Amino acid sequence: MPDCADNLPRTDRRPAVMRQNRRAFLQALGTMVVASSCGPSIRAAYSGELGRECPNGAHPVFGAAVRSDALRNDAPYRQAVTKFCQVVVPEGELKWATVQPKRGQFSFSDADSIVQFARSNGLNVRGHTLAWYAALPPWTAAIGSRAEAEAELVGHIRQTVTRYAGVIPSWDVVNEPIPDRPTSVRDLRESLWTKQIGPDYIPLAFKTAHACDPSARLFINDYDIEYEDARSRAKRDAFLALLRRLKDDNVPVHGVGVQAHLAGSRAIDRARLGDFLRAVHGLGLDIMITELDVIDNQFPGDEALRDKLVAEKTQELLDCVFDIVQPTGIVTWGLSDKYTWVPIYYKRQDGLPNRPLPLDRDMQVKPMYSVVSEFITRCGA
Ligand code: GLA
Repeated sequence: MPDCADNLPRTDRRPAVMRQNRRAFLQALGTMVVASSCGPSIRAAYSGELGRECPNGAHPVFGAAVRSDALRNDAPYRQAVTKFCQVVVPEGELKWATVQPKRGQFSFSDADSIVQFARSNGLNVRGHTLAWYAALPPWTAAIGSRAEAEAELVGHIRQTVTRYAGVIPSWDVVNEPIPDRPTSVRDLRESLWTKQIGPDYIPLAFKTAHACDPSARLFINDYDIEYEDARSRAKRDAFLALLRRLKDDNVPVHGVGVQAHLAGSRAIDRARLGDFLRAVHGLGLDIMITELDVIDNQFPGDEALRDKLVAEKTQELLDCVFDIVQPTGIVTWGLSDKYTWVPIYYKRQDGLPNRPLPLDRDMQVKPMYSVVSEFITRCGA
């Protein structure tokens, strides 16, 4: 059973500095911001570029996935993160391969350094991710039964969520549960978890995370649900069907992450994405843009033109989303083009560096930033 109290030692295993200042940290965070209807800014004295406060304090938060090594070694990057972000997400530091590289040996030092950086600068943190088919350490290949898989999944989530209970108030619990080409609305992406546990791995992950931090907002996150093509339609249908099943079964899922790794070359389906978001909202779930970037490998090389197209694609998505619902936040998958996953899979044939993010390699704002900024400073009803 996903009950946290059972197995965890009663001692607080958070780093000392985190324990000592936790009250002050939580006070600095103020009312939880990644919340259903957007609370006030996490930074009372917030005066960044997105600093216009709504009269009712109801604008979404902006943030980015960040890298602990870059935060350590790159001062201009560090300054940009504190200047522009209200929330940060460890890009890889809370994935299984980093957290539990050997069975039973947990390593939180990289994640802790991001949490510590965030707290020192009055930023919020989102956790990513607890149950995913990828970034699994090699030892997990030896998991050979349902009972073993359940024990490992529950144990990992308990260790991780409990460590940051009250400090990381929002988690991507299940990442990318829907296959790229679902053949039915019950189809789930194949993984260690579906192979050993079946569809029950999803409720198990959510219930465990909820038991370990009942105040955390728990998200399910996926990609390629934005487009007009048949693949995207099938993903939306399967995703919505899954969400309905989870809600029917009273699974503690609170929000849906629209990753929004936007392919420059694929048209966004404004009408059908809108229908999907309306239905998700109707289920009482928050909506958050969780991994926004624009994959620019097929855009022309000219930088100014490319930046304009990236900004337009961003606008196209945000127009659609904000027409239906105000998301609780917009998180880009990286802040600066200097640190982006995009060239790993989408290198440009002309050899020019990709420019998928709001800031350039020198931490200067690009047109994409202006678009995001305009939506972030919109006041919700
Ligand atoms: C997915 C994952 C992220 C990250 C990105 C880009 O969207 O959720 O953790 O790995 O891909 O690589």
